[in-house]
Amino acid sequence: MTLWSGRFDTAPDPAAFDFGISFGFDRLLFEDDVVGSIAWAEALGAAGVLSAGDVRSIVSGLQSILEEGQSNPSFVSGPDEDVHSFVERKLVERIGDAGRRLHTGRSRNEQVSLDLRLYLRRRIPVLQQAVAKLIAACADQAEQSGSGLMPAYTHLRRAQPVLVAHFFLSHAAALRRDHARLAAAADEADALTLGSGAVAGTSYSVDTSVLAARLGFSRVVRNSMDASSDRDFVASFLFATSLAMVHLSRMAEDLIIFTGEEHAYFDLADASATGSSMMPQKKNPDPLELVRGKTGRAIGRLAGWLATMKGLPSGYNKDLQEDKEAVFDGEMTLALSLGAAHAVVSRLTLNAEHTERAASGLLLATDVADYLVSRGMPFRRAHEVVGAMVRRLLAEGRDFSGLTLPEWRDASEMFGDDAPMAATALASVQARRTPQSTNPEAVRAALAECREWLAGS
Ligand code: ARG
Repeated sequence: MTLWSGRFDTAPDPAAFDFGISFGFDRLLFEDDVVGSIAWAEALGAAGVLSAGDVRSIVSGLQSILEEGQSNPSFVSGPDEDVHSFVERKLVERIGDAGRRLHTGRSRNEQVSLDLRLYLRRRIPVLQQAVAKLIAACADQAEQSGSGLMPAYTHLRRAQPVLVAHFFLSHAAALRRDHARLAAAADEADALTLGSGAVAGTSYSVDTSVLAARLGFSRVVRNSMDASSDRDFVASFLFATSLAMVHLSRMAEDLIIFTGEEHAYFDLADASATGSSMMPQKKNPDPLELVRGKTGRAIGRLAGWLATMKGLPSGYNKDLQEDKEAVFDGEMTLALSLGAAHAVVSRLTLNAEHTERAASGLLLATDVADYLVSRGMPFRRAHEVVGAMVRRLLAEGRDFSGLTLPEWRDASEMFGDDAPMAATALASVQARRTPQSTNPEAVRAALAECREWLAGS
C-alpha cells in the first residue's frame, strides 16, 4: 500500500515500482523525518488545523517510533516506498486515524528536502571534527619536527629549504579551508522548506517563522517553487567534500613519495601500512593510495549530481531522489578517508638526517644570489652569476659547501668571507622575512595560531 494508491486501479508493475523505492537508503533520514513531522504536527495544532488531542497523540506516537528506531535499527525496515511512507504507516498502526491527519497541507517534496537539510546539519559537524583532528595531527608533527629542515619542491624538483613544520602546516592550511567550506554548506542548508507544499505553498496558515525557530533553522526558504527543486546545498556539500578529498589526495601523494625508499624522509608506521602477498620486503602505503583513489569517486558524485540537476524543469522531479545516495556516499568517503589519513599522519616518524641532507646543496642557489643582491648587484645579474657557478659545480659533481674562498671570489668579487655562511639551509630559512614564510619565528607563530584555532573549533 502506497501513500498515493487511491487514484490507481491496478497495482504497480514491480519492475517500475521497485525501481523507484528509496527506503533502502533514505532510511538514514529516519530521525530527521520524525523530528520534522513532530514539529509539523505541532504547527498544524497551533494553526487550529488539528485538535489538541490529535496533536498529543501524533506527537507521542512519533516519539515512541523515534525511540524504537534509535534503540533498534532493524525496526526501520519494511516494504515501504520511502522513509516518509514508513513513518506514516507505523504512526497509523500505533494511533489509528489521528495518524492519517499528519500529512495535512504537507507534501513529500518539501518534506524530503527538509529531512536532508536536517541530516546535513547533524552530520556536517561530525565531518568538521574529523577535519580538525587531522589538522591537530599535522600540528603535532610540526611541533615534533622542531627545527628539522627539508627541501620544498616545485615541478617535483628540489626548490628551497623549508622547516619540516612548514610542510605539515601547509597541509593544515588547506584543511582549514575545507573546515570553513563545510560550514558554508551547512549554512546553505539552513532554511525551512515546510510551508512550500508540493510546489505552490500550503493553504493552512502555519506560522513558518515559529516552525523554523522550533526546528533550529535561521530562515525560511524564499519561494515555494524554487524550494521544491532546490538542491544547491547538496551541490555545495558535494563540492566541499570533493575539494577536501582533493586536499587529502595531494597530501597522500606527498607522503607516498616521501616515505618511499628513494626519499625516505619519513617512515610509515607498520600499523598504517600493508604488505605484499609475494614480495616479503614490501611495505606498501595502501591507505594513502586508497585515499587518492577514492578522490575520483567523490568528484564523480559531484559531477554526477550537477549533471542530474542541469536538465530539470521547475518544481519537484523524481530525478532529485538521486541526491541522497550522492550525499551519503560523499560523506562516508570523506569520513573514512579522514580517518585513514589521520592514522597515517599521526604515526609518521621523521628521518631528520635524510631531510636535512636533501635540504642542502644546489637548492641554496637562490640564497647565494640573494647574497650578491644584498651587496648591491641587480638580481638578474646575480641570477646569471650563480647560474654559471651551478653549471660548473654540477659538471664537477660538487656543491657550494666545497667552494674555497678564491673560488667564490673567482665567481664574483662581491663574495666576502661570509659567503659560505649564507649558503646553508638554516641560514636560508632564517633569511625569510614574511609571516607566511618558513622563517622559524613565523612558523612558531603559525603553529601557535593553529593550536589556538583548534582549541576554539
Ligand atoms: N523519495 C523521494 C525523493 O527522494 C521523496 C519525494 C517523493 N515525492 C514525489 N512527489 N514522488 O525525492
